[in-house]
Amino acid sequence: MNYLAPALAALLAATAAPGFANDTFEEVKISAGQALFDEACHRCHADNSEDPSYGPSLENILYRAAGSVEDYDYSTALEASGIVWTPAALRAWMEDNQGFMPGTKMRHVGIEDRTVQDFILAYLDSISDSERNKSID
Ligand code: HEC
Repeated sequence: MNYLAPALAALLAATAAPGFANDTFEEVKISAGQALFDEACHRCHADNSEDPSYGPSLENILYRAAGSVEDYDYSTALEASGIVWTPAALRAWMEDNQGFMPGTKMRHVGIEDRTVQDFILAYLDSISDSERNKSID
């Protein structure tokens, strides 16, 4: 058992190193998430509130109340849902939006891979003011 100790100590020291590794990982997640967003969502959703958008713009989506983009013609199901877009709700939506909310007019997307969800969430968080939205409620 003891022969593992130096390796373990080195590993712990490396993961405890401040800053750099975590920030880099976060940036990588956000840019991977942006690429995935471009692939799976962007053709229907703008990522800012100025661009034209077939579906509602997803700028500031994290912790936003569902159905709250003014002037967007939501389905009754979405408008009346009363939910807030927490990470868990967004995961369920990406995985099976029509199962999660029968009656929505968003076509089924079906992203089941948790890592892909993680990356897209990291990107959506980067274009959201999550802390502020959390405190509105
Ligand atoms: C084919 C077009 C299309 C694609 C692709 C698409 N969406 Fe949508 N999305 C819509 C439409 C249309 C609505 C409005 C649904 C309604 O009113 O029921 C919507 C609604 C949403 C909402 C609710 C927004 C709000 O203001 O409450 C979220 C969140 C969302 N989509 C996330 C995504 C994500 C993330 C992806 C990519 C993984 C994606 N969508 C892919 C068309 C699309």
